[in-house]
Amino acid sequence: MFDDERITDIHQNINEERSEFTLRPQHLDEYIGQKAVTDNLKVFIEAAKLRGEPLDHVLFYGPPGLGKTTLAGIIAKELGVDIRITSGPAIERAGDLAAILTNLNENDVLFIDEIHRLNRSVEEVLYSAMEDYALDIIIGKGPSARSIRLDLSKFTLIGATTRAGSLSAPLRDRFGVMAKFESYTTDELMTIIRRSAGLLGIQADEESLREMAMRSRGTPRVANRMLKRVRDFSQVEGNGTIDIDITKKALEALGVDMLGLENIDREILRVIIERFNGGPVGIDTIAASMGEEKVTIEDVYEPYLIQQGLLHRTPKGRVVSKEAYEHLGLEYQE
Ligand SMILES: Nc1ncnc2c1ncn2[C@@H]1O[C@H](COP(=O)(O)OP(=O)(O)O)[C@@H](O)[C@H]1O
Ligand SMILES: [Mg+2]
Repeated sequence: MFDDERITDIHQNINEERSEFTLRPQHLDEYIGQKAVTDNLKVFIEAAKLRGEPLDHVLFYGPPGLGKTTLAGIIAKELGVDIRITSGPAIERAGDLAAILTNLNENDVLFIDEIHRLNRSVEEVLYSAMEDYALDIIIGKGPSARSIRLDLSKFTLIGATTRAGSLSAPLRDRFGVMAKFESYTTDELMTIIRRSAGLLGIQADEESLREMAMRSRGTPRVANRMLKRVRDFSQVEGNGTIDIDITKKALEALGVDMLGLENIDREILRVIIERFNGGPVGIDTIAASMGEEKVTIEDVYEPYLIQQGLLHRTPKGRVVSKEAYEHLGLEYQE
């Protein structure tokens, strides 16, 4: 059905990039929530500016859609420097990284998304760049090869990852600041979509904003996307303003339930219940039964199901909880 356009898909899609840009807060005071992260960063940013030095390297980790890229942009702006944005998979060879690094100006920010996906040879170049602001380049091959050291401008690396555990220890150790991103509260999500509605010229009442916030899995990207889809319904089937009736109708049509689950999420639970008697069953088996990639289930769908207490990870495999049976309206048997 809408599988490749799930409303609660926490990953960004191409069409969204432009509109996300308009919704992205540009300054720290517009950035809602994540206080544990931003309060400290404010101090570090001020201190770096006072000293005229680059900010220490920063690692952001946490699930997609929680505002890592957004905050990286804001940091650069607050520091008054340029930001260069790239990602782990985009930097194929050490030379690609060297080209990026040599083009940075003093105190600039380099943002590497999905930094856990850097390949080894590239990662090694990053070590001396982060530590000494220098590149060691090998020229020539065999016995005549020699290494020369190239000085770089001082810079700040901001790395982002959904899997901090996949980062190698030497890389992780080179970050001075590590910041974990948490899910947003309903109130925070309401504030975020209230602002987005304002920017997009959408009229929505508070009850509707709350309903959308509650069904957004604690994720701003999901909340913003939901707001836009509900607006579509209000324009086609209503009078263009969003009220609670149109909100509920739209979410029902989109298959988003009270907990923010979509068809695919319910499908995962149902497969475990109906084919494997509720578990325990291995993740590989679940993936194969559904024709989904294992990593997609692990990284995208499962975390929220686990967080909601619908699914448990046990040494023997995944087990569906009693709450999940109840949520699906199925009878639970011990
Ligand atoms: N703290 C926040 N305040 C306001 N909007 C936010 C916040 N965090 C994220 N957003 C919104 O959610 C969208 C996705 O955030 P993004 O930074 O791309 O997430 P990530 O990089 O962690 O996947 C942004 O375009 C922005 O509109
Ligand atoms: Mg991002």
